[in-house]
Amino acid sequence: MTGSQEQETRVRRPRAVAGFAVAGVVAASLLLAGCDAPDILRSQGSSGQEIATLALWIFAILAGVLLTVWVILVYVIVTGRRRREKDASQNKGNLRIEIVWTAIPAVIVIVLFILTMIVTNRIDMPARGAQFTAVGRQWWWDFDYKDLGFKSPNEIYAPVGRRTSIDVVSADVIHSFWVPQMGGKVDMIPGHVNHIHFTPLKTGEYLGECSEFCGVQHGKMRFLFVVVEPEEYTAWVEHQQQPAAQPTGAEAVAGSRVIASVGCGSCHAIRGTTLRGTFGPDLTHFGSRRGIAAYTLRNTPANLLRWIQDPQGVKPGCNMPNVPLPSDQQREMTAYLEELK
Ligand code: CUA
Repeated sequence: MTGSQEQETRVRRPRAVAGFAVAGVVAASLLLAGCDAPDILRSQGSSGQEIATLALWIFAILAGVLLTVWVILVYVIVTGRRRREKDASQNKGNLRIEIVWTAIPAVIVIVLFILTMIVTNRIDMPARGAQFTAVGRQWWWDFDYKDLGFKSPNEIYAPVGRRTSIDVVSADVIHSFWVPQMGGKVDMIPGHVNHIHFTPLKTGEYLGECSEFCGVQHGKMRFLFVVVEPEEYTAWVEHQQQPAAQPTGAEAVAGSRVIASVGCGSCHAIRGTTLRGTFGPDLTHFGSRRGIAAYTLRNTPANLLRWIQDPQGVKPGCNMPNVPLPSDQQREMTAYLEELK
């Protein structure tokens, strides 16, 4: 390599790096702008807001560090060039400067540590009186309101302004409970009860998701966290405690017979009927839920029919088998399940 070539490469390399960095930022922004994922920086839960504030403080401090380093760097490059010809001393052996530039980062790290400890302590108080248990399963969520006598798979309600306190476990592999707009994540570990609590600050529907890779359908392991006024929450609890509604339409009545005869009850339960399975989601109030298959599909009759006809097509690898049934029976089952409000 000749001298001039070498110089050219030297100049080009930083430009290439800068080019990659800009392209990366642009690509990331486009990707993020394109997806409808919940905005974790717009938290509507108490812990989430504490964490977001902490993140902003840390960002501000680190941005200050970065700016300071840049300013010093530019200063050193400029003055260094001027002094190139002379034998520039590098402050070798200057004890005072060495102490200062060791002490400053140490102080910054200590400040970050203290800020993080304060927030961690505030959001991670000891477990007290969980309202329900969240059980992670491949690949859905079993929300068990044991004390109240019902289960509400893949969809939970919580009163606004009051503390929601949840015990978190797993029935198979490690999952992670996460409602991005409420607060932090907590691992769901087989044989070990973890705990999470936070106070929802605004009514609305918030997406929850599994945040720990747990198998092929990890990406389709979601749930809905619905924050409502306290009265509406009480009404929801009372409604969930009721056994399943009796079918009314002719198709639904037929569907209730089909579902009892084709073996759905070995996995599913419908309170008030002969179906008592515990392996799959409780379907007692299936029709009142907004999602199907851990919020893989919106709960509409067309989607439910699609799910019943071909669960392995919608969610390959899931534990719901394709059951070959005549199409009129599939339609009857759909009619019955949608009546279970
Ligand atoms: Cu469950 Cu990932």
